[in-house]
Amino acid sequence: MSQAGSSMTAATDVAQPPRPWERPPTEVVGVTCTAGGQRIRREGGQPLIQLRNVSKSFGALNVLRDLSIEIYEGQSTVIIGPSGTGKSVLLKHIVGLLQPDTGEVWFGGQRVDTMAPEDLVEIRKRIGFLFQMSALFDSLTVGENVAFPLVEHTTLTRPDREERVDRVLRMVGLSGLQAKMPAQLSGGQKKRVSLARSIVLGPEAVMYDEPTTGLDPIRSDLINELIVGLSTRLGITSVIVTHDMVSACKIADRMVLIYDGKIVHDGTPESFWKTDDELVRRFVHGQAEASDLELISKGLDDGEQDRSASKDASSGI
Ligand SMILES: Nc1ncnc2c1ncn2[C@@H]1O[C@H](COP(=O)(O)OP(=O)(O)O)[C@@H](O)[C@H]1O
Ligand SMILES: [Mg+2]
Repeated sequence: MSQAGSSMTAATDVAQPPRPWERPPTEVVGVTCTAGGQRIRREGGQPLIQLRNVSKSFGALNVLRDLSIEIYEGQSTVIIGPSGTGKSVLLKHIVGLLQPDTGEVWFGGQRVDTMAPEDLVEIRKRIGFLFQMSALFDSLTVGENVAFPLVEHTTLTRPDREERVDRVLRMVGLSGLQAKMPAQLSGGQKKRVSLARSIVLGPEAVMYDEPTTGLDPIRSDLINELIVGLSTRLGITSVIVTHDMVSACKIADRMVLIYDGKIVHDGTPESFWKTDDELVRRFVHGQAEASDLELISKGLDDGEQDRSASKDASSGI
């Protein structure tokens, strides 16, 4: 053990490459997001969705802390932030699946959080929700899955429903797959079927909860193109939660970083890439916190020492 320890000490006297957290903050790693290479960011119209001073706790866990945000009509707003920071909770407030402890939630000039259940049903018809998991009904065909909201919420005849299902499946590039079962689809196809189901009622807004998580870059790109197309060509107001900075850069008119239950940066994607704010930079460039990296590094050092000690022991040193 002492031998392993002294050799480690000797090694640290030699010039070491910089540890990850010693990287100069000006160094750009990963994706860059420049106005030139990307599409035009759009100004939003009127506020369609408003959270006013919303706080939400689960037991002792304070998730949203006095958070206020306005989401503008026709814009794509991308929400980023560490895992467990309340991004999904925020989306669920917008559609009335969760109620705030304090504060207000508004959609299209109507207050959602105190709304009677029958009125909330009407609001939910106007908002598509693409859940983190595809959440398709496994025992229903693709066509039946997509038609489900039409059966639940409209009096359309079967031929009209079939026509509508065909139209949205064509929009997501899955025309003719009505008879397939979800188990026969790839992950990317399931996402697109879910998306078709989210837009079949012709919503004004769609909430996307991590739409590209678990998909490879090519399938992710297809989903991103769809989100952009629905937003720019059909004028759907989009709120997208993502961890994926490439997607964020491609989709967003506006980006919002949530940290510790609050908004810490709000602006164009370019403003996220240009900022000097250390927290924002770290998040955008996918750099872990120095304190966490240091802990991991210490743990690895210990592991290394243990391993060389056990090797020494087994070789009889
Ligand atoms: N219905 C719930 N009951 C209890 N805790 C919840 C509930 N929904 C979310 N949480 C907790 O709130 C925190 C934020 O969750 P979430 O919004 O899902 O995070 P993320 O930012 O990763 O989407 C997490 O710690 C999660 O465990
Ligand atoms: Mg989430």
